[in-house]
Amino acid sequence: MRNIGKFIIVEGDDYSGKSTFVKQLKKKRPEFVYSREPGGSPASEKIRELLLSDEGSRIDPRTRFYLFWASRVENLEKVIIPALLAGKVVVTDRFDASTYAYQVGGDEGYRLGGLFWETRERILALLPRNSAPNYLIFRVSLEAAEMRRRSRKVGANHFDRKDREYRRRVSDHYRTFSESVGGPSRHPEKVAVVDANRSERTVFKNAYRELQRFLNE
Ligand code: TYD
Repeated sequence: MRNIGKFIIVEGDDYSGKSTFVKQLKKKRPEFVYSREPGGSPASEKIRELLLSDEGSRIDPRTRFYLFWASRVENLEKVIIPALLAGKVVVTDRFDASTYAYQVGGDEGYRLGGLFWETRERILALLPRNSAPNYLIFRVSLEAAEMRRRSRKVGANHFDRKDREYRRRVSDHYRTFSESVGGPSRHPEKVAVVDANRSERTVFKNAYRELQRFLNE
């Protein structure tokens, strides 16, 4: 039987420290395949440019929802699935939980919840058998995220400029997502929530321990 790789998704609010974790993980485990969303494959990186640009902030939220999924399908087909089939561990910085948190939660007036779960079911069905995602979800308080945001103004995109109400909805939807996936379903995903209010060192240690549990190391 072919040895299928493991699929690890790192998720969390802006300023939750997940990208720092991925950066440190790249040094510790260079043998993994790394990806990010929006982006990943060459075409997805082009979609990313549009999504994060000021023009992207003005497009209809439903268009944005579909563009995130379009970018994801490309990333799955061109990068993630081939790597899983080659038996690699794939780590992606953001994936579908972000769409749930930001497009369903943040832009809640557009009622994209039903469409989200339907689309997710179909898109995750593209994954090879036995490669259901394992989620590491970084949770940070809104206060701590705000402090980190103020101390790091560089490179802000329109998502970084959203107001507190939007951020609260995103955060609440990450919680709902963590509670809604996993368990005995067609895609038996695993979820670990990481307390990202702690020091960088502790967060890395705890997140890495969860990752090893996913990998049965
Ligand atoms: P990025 O600069 O990659 O930020 P981060 O380091 O926080 O991941 O910006 C990606 C932004 O895109 C981020 O603010 C969240 C947003 N996003 C969505 O709104 N929906 C999605 O499905 C994804 C993957 C990202």
